[in-house]
Amino acid sequence: MTANECIRGRRSIRQFTDKPVSRDVLAGIVETASYAPSWKHTQIVRYIAVEGELKDKIASECTSSYAKNGEIIKSAPTLIAVTFIKNRSGFERDGSFSTPKEGGWQMFDTGIAAEAFCLAAYEQGLGTVILGIFDEAKASALLSLPEDRELAALIPIGYPAEEPVAPKRKSVEDLLSYMES
Ligand SMILES: Cc1cc2nc3c(=O)[nH]c(=O)nc-3n(C[C@H](O)[C@H](O)[C@H](O)COP(=O)(O)O)c2cc1C
Repeated sequence: MTANECIRGRRSIRQFTDKPVSRDVLAGIVETASYAPSWKHTQIVRYIAVEGELKDKIASECTSSYAKNGEIIKSAPTLIAVTFIKNRSGFERDGSFSTPKEGGWQMFDTGIAAEAFCLAAYEQGLGTVILGIFDEAKASALLSLPEDRELAALIPIGYPAEEPVAPKRKSVEDLLSYMES
């Protein structure tokens, strides 16, 4: 699979088979995703693989604002909580912000890592979907996240039970402009 095929072929998967995701396969995906770039190579992203009763509890108790996400989490054998260590990416050693984006680089780094994770999973035949709508406070409490960590997104992962068509993309004309003086 070329990088082009991988980027174009990955789809958000919302229905999964019962086949479990082995620890070896998941470790390989995280290892690949660790090659994502990060602010001053701070590597702040941490993945928590959640299975069993805790996964279903997160599905039931943290998705009231969008119940469909609860169904997706229940369908997946494993749920990845994508977290990051706070106050490193985009920060100076004395705790001040490095740029006017302030703490924004933390989510920037985490987004890059999340896409790398999803692409690495796709190459292994696994489906993923990044979920942004959930009760963050409740999910963080269920995951017993320490003070220095933040939950950025949830990614259900498993073997796909659907083959969705790619939603239409904007044209290059819409996406790209040139400037010259
Ligand atoms: C930051 C972010 C948050 C998202 N949140 C959700 C979500 O809460 N529920 C969901 O079903 N899909 C969610 N998605 C998936 C998008 O809907 C999906 O990427 C988009 O429709 C394009 O489809 P594709 O991923 O198959 O190319 C999210 C994607 C991103 C990047």
